[in-house]
Amino acid sequence: MRNQDDISFDDYDEIINPKPDDTDFDRIVDIALSRRDLMKGIMVFGGVTAFGNTLMPSAAHAATDRFAFDAIDMSTADGITVPPGYKADVVARWGDPLWSDAPEFDHATRGTGASQARAFGDNNDGMEVYAHGDKTLLIVNNEYTNRKIIWGNREEGKSETDDDILKGMNAHGLTVVEIAETDGVWGIVKDSPYNRRVTPDVEMDITGPATGHVLMRTQKDPAGMVVQGTYNNCGNGSTPWGTYLACEENFNGYFATADQEHPVTDEMKRYGITPKGWGYDWHKIDDRFDIGKVANECNRHGYVTEVDPTDPTSRPKKRTALGRFKHENAEVVVNSDGKIVVYMGDDERGEFLYRYVSNGVYAPGGETDSLLEDGTLYAARFYENGTGEWLELSPETTGMASLAEVCIHTRQAASTVGATTMDRPEWVAANPKAAEVYCALTNNKNRGVKPNAGGDETPVGGPNPREANKYGQIVRWRPDGADHTSRGFAWDLYVLAGNPTVHEGANAGSDNVNTGNMFNSPDGLKFDSNGLLWIQTDGNYSNEKDFAGQGNNQMLAGDTATGEIRRFFVGPKQAEVTGLTWSPDRRTMFVGIQHPGERGEGNWPEGGDAVPRSAIVAVTREDGGLVG
Ligand code: FEO
Ligand code: CA
Ligand code: CA
Ligand code: CA
Repeated sequence: MRNQDDISFDDYDEIINPKPDDTDFDRIVDIALSRRDLMKGIMVFGGVTAFGNTLMPSAAHAATDRFAFDAIDMSTADGITVPPGYKADVVARWGDPLWSDAPEFDHATRGTGASQARAFGDNNDGMEVYAHGDKTLLIVNNEYTNRKIIWGNREEGKSETDDDILKGMNAHGLTVVEIAETDGVWGIVKDSPYNRRVTPDVEMDITGPATGHVLMRTQKDPAGMVVQGTYNNCGNGSTPWGTYLACEENFNGYFATADQEHPVTDEMKRYGITPKGWGYDWHKIDDRFDIGKVANECNRHGYVTEVDPTDPTSRPKKRTALGRFKHENAEVVVNSDGKIVVYMGDDERGEFLYRYVSNGVYAPGGETDSLLEDGTLYAARFYENGTGEWLELSPETTGMASLAEVCIHTRQAASTVGATTMDRPEWVAANPKAAEVYCALTNNKNRGVKPNAGGDETPVGGPNPREANKYGQIVRWRPDGADHTSRGFAWDLYVLAGNPTVHEGANAGSDNVNTGNMFNSPDGLKFDSNGLLWIQTDGNYSNEKDFAGQGNNQMLAGDTATGEIRRFFVGPKQAEVTGLTWSPDRRTMFVGIQHPGERGEGNWPEGGDAVPRSAIVAVTREDGGLVG
């Protein structure tokens, strides 16, 4: 995820909110373990040795026929590349109207507050397609806005009017839209009764342990039960009972106040709340976002929100039981005993990996409301020997006064129990064919350099083996006894991304990385129905120096048994490839393109002088075959 200017959200956060440099060695467990054992855990599951012997790429190709496509080269073009025999067509773009009473996107003005409320939101990220009777419903997160794009018609790319700010707000949230395929081309069904925008004004219920807690109460909602809006949803999840999970990530950037000396508590600092904010300016038109006026609104965001995509009148539910942090996605697993397990990353440098386990069990057609309300949160600790454990977060283990507090100050709870600081956990994906789970650790320039925002040390080691990690890696774990509720697990690294043309050793990457498939900053992860792991990147697209030969952001497919990784898709200039779902018949793969041209270079998808627009594309086979 990148911010309005030429820096990432994390960088922006760091500039305006510098982290302490002091360290607290007392917090660190097992720091004395020898680093010589570090690589023992890498690639022990797959039969491929990541370090030492070289895995021959040609041998890997010959070893499997699980890939139904030929690998493609990297690209720096301002367009999409897919393998021969495949095509990619645009389905829906930022600003496309969902109703026929709304105007088409205006490249000169980039829309208004009113037009944006009736149109597809900006910067699509996580998404899911649901079959509903004979209808195909797409629900997608509209994560954020790029200041210089949405306000690119204004001097310096800054808001000039209240309506500019409202346009930005209305570009956030969720879009639910019916889509249909006509003559092989997918598009929006305007005026469908299912079409819906969930903007930052839409009312929703607060559920779970934090409901009504004093930290959740505001002047407008003195009971702490009802909140307006969900925004900065990054990845997503989907439940077996047909609901969608939107995951709030960098919610902190929307809070600000005019007085730059306004005091900010330590609890707020841990989440990156500052008087300055990130330039969205929402506090200028709505007091909810002014921390000088409404102290607790920020405690009401940073959650997972459950939405029924089939009922446009339904009230979304913020599920506080899943904790408050910078959620990436929420990977839902039905355990063998019917309990619902949700794996979740907190995407910030040195933050943690989480698991939620429901108290109740899922039964098809049965009651589901309590399954994401009533359960236990855990944070992961990894050991150098390839094992790990889930540490319960409760008043007893953390010393916090209540479970509500654990669910509101989840980062602090996980720090207290000594969870392992990670290299920015992005999407988590569970293998549908085996009891194993994967998480993209995208990169972390602070690894081994400085502590996280809570002062927890970030030592080099375990699943975070490289100092100032530039390229990222994918960690995987297998729960003990193939039981996702087990305390213990075994872990290894599926891949260490790197650049074998520039580096030797660890920065060349693991042996399943070669000059033909290299990439950096894995982010989106999802398994298809065949058990292939799809990997999407949100990284450095400069194609030079450490990243020479890697081109634009891309999507690859990984065979988790052999370790082989093959490049399938390359996105347009300066875009991230994020969000992945399939049509019910699996003949279309929907892929998200986010922030094309974010630094001023690129005009995808329309080209010429057009404003670059985030969009969803449909990838199909020219022979009409299955795509996952
Ligand atoms: Fe919105 Fe962690 O990416
Ligand atoms: Ca992003
Ligand atoms: Ca990212
Ligand atoms: Ca992401």
